[in-house]
Amino acid sequence: MRRVDDDVSTHGTQATSTTGATAQPRAAVDLFARIATNERVQQWAAAKPHDLSPYFRTAESPAAPIMRMEGKDRVMLGSNNYLGLTGDPRVLEAARKAIDVYGSGLTGSRLLNGTIPLHLDLEREIAEWMGTEDAIVFATGNQANTGALSALLGPGDTVIADSGDHASILDGCILSKAKLRAFRHNRLEKLEKQLDRAAGDGGGVLVVVDGVFSMEGDIAPVPEVAELAKRYGARLMVDEAHGAGVLGARGAGTCELLGCEDQVDLRMGTFSKSLASAGGFIASSHEVVQYLRLQSRPYLFTASAVPAAVGAALAALRIVRSSEGPQLLSKVLDNAAYWHAGLTRLGLHVVPPTTLADGSTLITPIVPVLVGDDWKAFLLWKALWDAGAFVNVAVHPAVPPGGALLRTSVMATHEREDLDRALELFERVIKDFTAEHGPLPGPSH
Ligand SMILES: Cc1ncc(COP(=O)(O)O)c(C=O)c1O
Repeated sequence: MRRVDDDVSTHGTQATSTTGATAQPRAAVDLFARIATNERVQQWAAAKPHDLSPYFRTAESPAAPIMRMEGKDRVMLGSNNYLGLTGDPRVLEAARKAIDVYGSGLTGSRLLNGTIPLHLDLEREIAEWMGTEDAIVFATGNQANTGALSALLGPGDTVIADSGDHASILDGCILSKAKLRAFRHNRLEKLEKQLDRAAGDGGGVLVVVDGVFSMEGDIAPVPEVAELAKRYGARLMVDEAHGAGVLGARGAGTCELLGCEDQVDLRMGTFSKSLASAGGFIASSHEVVQYLRLQSRPYLFTASAVPAAVGAALAALRIVRSSEGPQLLSKVLDNAAYWHAGLTRLGLHVVPPTTLADGSTLITPIVPVLVGDDWKAFLLWKALWDAGAFVNVAVHPAVPPGGALLRTSVMATHEREDLDRALELFERVIKDFTAEHGPLPGPSH
């Protein structure tokens, strides 16, 4: 199937010399010249020789509270395996069974030879879980975002996104060629200003927010966002990558927790976090989902996820929806509150809990520690790594410039003794670190 027409060039020119001979046209610059001056490349080159880079470290055991990484057991505080299901025997057995029945790969698009009964079961059960008419399963969460946004929006439309939205949302917006209007993170008055402007843009309007923001761990005021979107005639999409399998009595995410599921047009989720696998979904009306099945290029022009991934996600979803689910959900949130309180006691600048409309507060399993400077974040990461803990480091563009943070996260399978051990380790490391490198942002440093 051909996707790009041959011989189509929008810039084809040929220079002719004064003698009439045709000069060889050449590119104005060498495309690769910018690589050497790239900020990320330079940062990597400076960090790598000192073993300071937190990136591409190798895991040598399944994601678990204590896991093997580069020859040492470390407390894992950097996994999105929120419910700890990647090691659950039922999930592993489902993955094995899917391989036995359907093989190691499907070698084709969902449209052609890449759909198996497990996809259909998973789509039906996701729709039941989310309370929507239908759901569509993509090979990755990233493709669920790019696939939905690029199919639903087009040139002439406007998409309004929170500045903290995930990169795959931004990429989907760019792919769609719709006009992008961003608003300051969680600022409803800025959203309203953009809705007002978008109403004059002349096309359809979609608002997209993360339910739980992936770096900050705070949540979007979805009911208020939905109310504004409705008032201005815009549609609303919520990315529940970090909300589904974590928040709400059914674990259906931020929209369930905040009681606004029926005010949201599209809910996106991934299997790469609580659902212990890889893949993603969009849950919506049957009309929208069927349109995506027929029109979404990132869905159509890629091979289907491997059967083991689909089988594992389905088994994990069934656990979340079983009588065991509520216990797992409350354990991960209890652990999050315990961990957040512990880091706060150490005097670290931890992103504060979200205050909900009813005045209660919520701490999600993502507990970021603000460091500020990129290099300081790398040095602190290395000190924690050497002491036996793994956390994630987020620097620009994942966070605003100067907003480097250690992104810590907890799982339902962390026991109190794991978290206490980690808190002792943090306390020791931070004491030595601040003595050598100066204070960290926060009340007591
Ligand atoms: C908010 C958010 N949306 C989408 C994605 C993409 O999901 P996946 O990694 O499963 O492709 C992520 C992944 O980190 C995410 O954090």
